[in-house]
Amino acid sequence: MAHPSQIIFYGATILITFFLVSFNIHWSEKSLLNERKKDIDHCPGEPVRDTITPLKGQKAFIIAPYYDNRKENVIRILGIVHHKEVVELYCHFCCSVNKTIPTTRAEIQMHQDRFGFPYGLSDIICAEPPNCKPKHVFVHWNSQHTANLTKFPIRNRERGEFKANFTVCISTMFGNYSNILQFIQTIEMYKILGAQKVDVYLNNCSQHMAEVLQFYRREGTVEIIPWHIHRYLKISNSWRLRTMIKNSGITATISHVE
Ligand SMILES: *[C@@H]1O[C@H](CO)[C@@H](O)[C@H](O)[C@H]1NC(C)=O
Ligand SMILES: *[C@@H]1O[C@H](CO)[C@@H](O)[C@H](O)[C@H]1NC(C)=O
Ligand SMILES: *[C@@H]1O[C@H](CO)[C@@H](O)[C@H](O)[C@H]1NC(C)=O
Ligand SMILES: *[C@@H]1O[C@H](CO)[C@@H](O)[C@H](O)[C@H]1NC(C)=O
Ligand SMILES: *[C@@H]1O[C@H](CO)[C@@H](O)[C@H](O)[C@H]1NC(C)=O
Repeated sequence: MAHPSQIIFYGATILITFFLVSFNIHWSEKSLLNERKKDIDHCPGEPVRDTITPLKGQKAFIIAPYYDNRKENVIRILGIVHHKEVVELYCHFCCSVNKTIPTTRAEIQMHQDRFGFPYGLSDIICAEPPNCKPKHVFVHWNSQHTANLTKFPIRNRERGEFKANFTVCISTMFGNYSNILQFIQTIEMYKILGAQKVDVYLNNCSQHMAEVLQFYRREGTVEIIPWHIHRYLKISNSWRLRTMIKNSGITATISHVE
């Protein structure tokens, strides 16, 4: 039998872990809130249709731009980028102050944890032009080209109300995932520990699992974020070949075999 002090120790460890998790995800949560805000400014361009958007003519995909004023005013764009073949990208901003579209060259910061895969998570960072207050940004390899591009709403700019104080993000559900017992146990445990939301990045799962996900979605616990990475990259079926991408609490698994 477990000694009471042991139980307290384990309990404390689990709680601390979850506090850390909740702390980490504050940032991403704010952004998800802002994403749903109605787009009221008049910026030309195609609206975003999916959580992952391929950049035309580039081995690069955009997930989402965030306003980041922690050190200086930059737009930090999360993307999935080929580590060798993408060298130059530009941000074209749609100013809300006036109708101009200033351009800045992006700094592409590839994350270290690529595990040998050709694609990995990247921060595409653009300085924000002064007196512009952009709500949208286009990304392109050509510094001149701004026609017919996808306009990405810049999240995080307005501080919204928190939908939840404690959200848990779990890594992407791939393949015919159908470990229902494990999933239910996990969600119920998160709820006991105080989680108000669980974000599930869903690539694919079994039919039975999909029903369980819908149950928790209706209950208001689970938020499903579609993750159609298989439309663009081949997914490896071995965990060893996976590239974990982590940023600001968003954890997802993306992999590719060439
Ligand atoms: C519009 O804003 C841009 C970006 O700050 C600035 O460079 C430009 O001079 C402004 N144009 C007008 C007409 O105000
Ligand atoms: C933008 O798209 C429209 C409609 O598809 C097309 O007629 C136009 O030529 C495109 N413009 C550029 C610069 O590609
Ligand atoms: C989050 O915590 C604050 C402070 O305890 C509380 O006022 C607020 O209602 C909570 N929000 C949610 C969504 O639970
Ligand atoms: C998916 O998993 C379920 C449950 O393990 C199984 O019954 C089903 O045949 C599987 N489907 C495929 C396409 O592998
Ligand atoms: C998703 O998984 C099901 C089996 O669970 C399979 O039949 C289906 O083809 C998969 N879809 C994709 C897009 O991989």
